[in-house]
Amino acid sequence: MISGKRTRTAYFCTRCGSEHAKWQGQCRECGEWNSLIEEKVTVRKGKSGKAPLSDRKRIPEIDIESQAGYRSGITEFDRVLGGRLLPGMTVLLGGEPGIGKSTLILQAAEAFSRQGLAVLYVTGEESLSQLKLRSQRLGVSGENITAVNTTSLEEAIGTLGSTKFDIVLVDSIQTLATDSLDSPPGTVAQVREVSHQLISLAKTAGYGLFLIGHVTKDGLVAGPKLLEHMVDTVAYFEGDNTHLYRMLRATKNRFGSVAEIGIFEMQPVGLVEVNNPSSLFLSSGRGEARPGSVVTAVCEGSRPILVEIQALVTPASYGTPQRVAGGIDNKRLALLLAILEKRCGYPMASNDVFVSVAGGLKLSEPSLDLPLLTAITSSLLNKPVGVLTAVVGEVGLSGEVRGVTMIDRRLSEAARLGFESVVLPGVNVSQAEGQKIKMIGVDDIQTALDKTFG
Ligand SMILES: Nc1ncnc2c1ncn2[C@@H]1O[C@H](COP(=O)(O)OP(=O)(O)OP(=O)(O)O)[C@@H](O)[C@H]1O
Ligand SMILES: [Mg+2]
Ligand SMILES: [Zn+2]
Repeated sequence: MISGKRTRTAYFCTRCGSEHAKWQGQCRECGEWNSLIEEKVTVRKGKSGKAPLSDRKRIPEIDIESQAGYRSGITEFDRVLGGRLLPGMTVLLGGEPGIGKSTLILQAAEAFSRQGLAVLYVTGEESLSQLKLRSQRLGVSGENITAVNTTSLEEAIGTLGSTKFDIVLVDSIQTLATDSLDSPPGTVAQVREVSHQLISLAKTAGYGLFLIGHVTKDGLVAGPKLLEHMVDTVAYFEGDNTHLYRMLRATKNRFGSVAEIGIFEMQPVGLVEVNNPSSLFLSSGRGEARPGSVVTAVCEGSRPILVEIQALVTPASYGTPQRVAGGIDNKRLALLLAILEKRCGYPMASNDVFVSVAGGLKLSEPSLDLPLLTAITSSLLNKPVGVLTAVVGEVGLSGEVRGVTMIDRRLSEAARLGFESVVLPGVNVSQAEGQKIKMIGVDDIQTALDKTFG
């Protein structure tokens, strides 16, 4: 039996978490450049013994454990988790500093606690009094929430052994460290090891686990991207400082659909669910038609949301014309402008183009193409689109308008909010029969613009 310390230097990729013996410019595993950092890894060897055999069964022999799962009752939150939190399910919740991760998780903890579930809140980031202050502000009574302030994984696991918890929240994974490694908390080696242990324990003990993770500048959970492979569900909490809304978006889900989003508004009393998001993203004062403004219906997950796209086209004063996109991909904008110039002959190269999604929403759906092009043309021609007209459609490189998914839901939402007509891909028209909205089917961008602007 060997025991004692063994120190070695290893290089970890900050993107994928893989370990390398030597430093090199490019990560062998994920191909990222300059992502390796040096870390000292000290492993304290413990007693080694025979490993117990794990439970082996043929599939028909496996009993399904109660898969009923837990609902928090916060609809916007449950939806993102795929409807419910299953026992042993692990969730990584990422987000930028100050976006409201602790607030969200504390409110979720309270909601679960009200269902009679025992919740453990491990806070390495804030003291217990800070947690109490936040609880008071949010009106969280926390009857069944046990809080522990620690940065030691062993202490957290000790607490877990003493009582049976249904749900465990860790705020944040970057603050916990295990004694078995000498690296400081937040290093790749620590984050990887701590997560690994908590996740294995969640699977055997059956508690639902939430790991909060900070996000770096490039949008990854600090430390290893590897974490995303280890958990069942990855959700990001997003929003921006100039808007009150916050969006919880699943980017991975082993038990449900990805792309589901939950929408909240940050208020002094905490996060409030937004069950009717279209009203939030249509800018106020849509009384009269304004050039450059177009409303579209996007589908985030299974849910349709109406949003307003705004464009401003002005003659470029000098040099390379500016292209500024807010809420959509810059490259997509450049591509759409090239299509507009080539297929419709508008002189885009001599104009600056600014586009944004009202409300600060970030979108990547292909159905945004036609509304974006319509908004740009509307500003260029200084002709408004009717206030009660919505536009949806994907646009291909040759200027053809392609069909979009879930047309029924999009049109119902538009009709529900009082829209009277919609410009949509021709192929979608037959799929949307019976909708209480006038449909203007178009097959290419030139026809779409002709029908819209006369
Ligand atoms: N007293 C308060 N009144 C109203 N809103 C507050 C108050 N304190 C904090 N907030 C809101 O809560 C937000 C911070 O939320 P929270 O602490 O949950 O974020 P976080 O993502 O956990 O941040 P961190 O990365 O620091 O852990 C603030 O940006 C602010 O909008
Ligand atoms: Mg926090
Ligand atoms: Zn890598």
